[in-house]
Amino acid sequence: MSIIFSGIQPSGNLTLGNYLGALRNFSKIQAGNECYYCVVNQHAITVPQDPKMLHERTRQLAAIYIASGLDPEQSTLFVQSEVPEHVQLGWIMTTLSYVGELERMTQYKDKASKRGDSIPAGLLTYPPLMAADILLYQTNYVPVGDDQKQHLEITRNLAQRFNRVYGDVFTIPDIYLGHDGTRVMSLQEPTKKMSKSDDNTTATIYLLDNPKDIEKKIKRAQTDSENSVHYDVEQKPGISNLIEILSAMTDQTHDEITAAYADKGYGAFKKDVADAVISTLEPIQQRYQQLVGDPELDDILEKGAAKAHAKANVTYDKVCHAMGLYRK
Ligand code: AMP
Ligand code: TRP
Repeated sequence: MSIIFSGIQPSGNLTLGNYLGALRNFSKIQAGNECYYCVVNQHAITVPQDPKMLHERTRQLAAIYIASGLDPEQSTLFVQSEVPEHVQLGWIMTTLSYVGELERMTQYKDKASKRGDSIPAGLLTYPPLMAADILLYQTNYVPVGDDQKQHLEITRNLAQRFNRVYGDVFTIPDIYLGHDGTRVMSLQEPTKKMSKSDDNTTATIYLLDNPKDIEKKIKRAQTDSENSVHYDVEQKPGISNLIEILSAMTDQTHDEITAAYADKGYGAFKKDVADAVISTLEPIQQRYQQLVGDPELDDILEKGAAKAHAKANVTYDKVCHAMGLYRK
């Protein structure tokens, strides 16, 4: 049995990329493991958030976790700000971090470059808070997309740095890249990742999009003029992305898909991709609608926070003792 931890920020509407790259893997690995899944709302406030939206999205994300297959009986689902050890250990991890290594994070560079002279310090100290999230639970594996590799690497470095100086307190976590490693690209600029923060909403399939919108977006997806369905990321990034999506939805290989559409055009292919996406998302959307306004969701989150707190507190206590942060 391994300990698994992962988190998603409640900072936008979740996309098909989040589902295939993250959420779907979360529920696949919950059986037989001790899993913690967190709505990381304190990471979201590293850039300004509208309070009402943040509150709503936190609840929505929790409902989506469950609707995507996460079983709250098997896994611990909770909101980061309800377990105070996250920021407490986050501060300690910040004191162990070097400004230089934090400035080298590509996510920091991307986000900071958009903020002119007013770069929030929390953008820089985002990775030590993420390290705290993971290390509090003595995590073995962290399922995330490959864009989070660098943050996992710094988490490992911080854990090793701490253990070297203060003794063996932390388990060193490994990244868990889902076996299919699906990376979904933008429908409009297929060399870019599909992202919940993209301003162009036609480039993105949201998990809660209705069937009509999904069909429209896939129909309008950027392709090429060749009208031949085969996988070639360099020459045909748009079609390759749609093949990847269909493959993830139907468990067919790229070759099987290429063979099935050998004598069909893009129109028929896109229609089938849209149908596959719609039928995968429909049950998720139904479960989400039942849950989001239901007090049952509050019960789940309260129990989750209590369980997470009990576990996190054991590690945090060890850290304080190891560092001399105690009185008696
Ligand atoms: P983000 O939306 O960037 O906060 O990411 C939340 C989780 O979803 C992370 O584990 C990401 O790696 C994953 N993810 C986000 N966008 C995609 C995408 N387009 N394809 C695959 N995984 C993604
Ligand atoms: N940085 C992650 C992202 O942007 C979110 C995150 C915060 C996270 N804390 C985490 C992911 C801990 C895994 C484990 O996707």
